[in-house]
Amino acid sequence: MGAEVSEEFEPKIVAFACNWCSYPAADSAGVGRMQYPSNVRVIRVMCAGRINPSFVLKAFELGADGVLVSGCHIEDCHYLFGARRAGDQYEKVEQLVHLLGLEKERLRLERISAAEAPKWAQVIRDFVADVKKVGRSPLAGIRSASDEEKEASWKQ
Ligand code: FES
Repeated sequence: MGAEVSEEFEPKIVAFACNWCSYPAADSAGVGRMQYPSNVRVIRVMCAGRINPSFVLKAFELGADGVLVSGCHIEDCHYLFGARRAGDQYEKVEQLVHLLGLEKERLRLERISAAEAPKWAQVIRDFVADVKKVGRSPLAGIRSASDEEKEASWKQ
């Protein structure tokens, strides 16, 4: 008789990362072979202030179990007010996520500089662990085949 293999839930995490701070931190963490879960898919944006709440909602709609918004420390933003704007946008998206009935553990804002690769790795480890505790997103799989077809037709 073979041993039973239980498949542990592996959350899908989307991380929006600013080009100047968090993305290089993620890159350095990889180059430095720092251990963190491979559940995260990083989307690079020029500034965290560019992360519109609709991006986050779209990620959840497309099946993300958790979304990380990550950018520079406030005083380091290359576009002066972008990091502050990211905080304002995050507050809005927090409310929307709450209205959708999603657990607060599924959304996170972190300010990670380019020199903070260990912080990036730790944030990802912690976030994946938190999302594992709340399980699969109730929104995962809400997209129907007709949604896919509509979207494909818009792209033509
Ligand atoms: S450039 Fe990184 S948050 Fe604005």
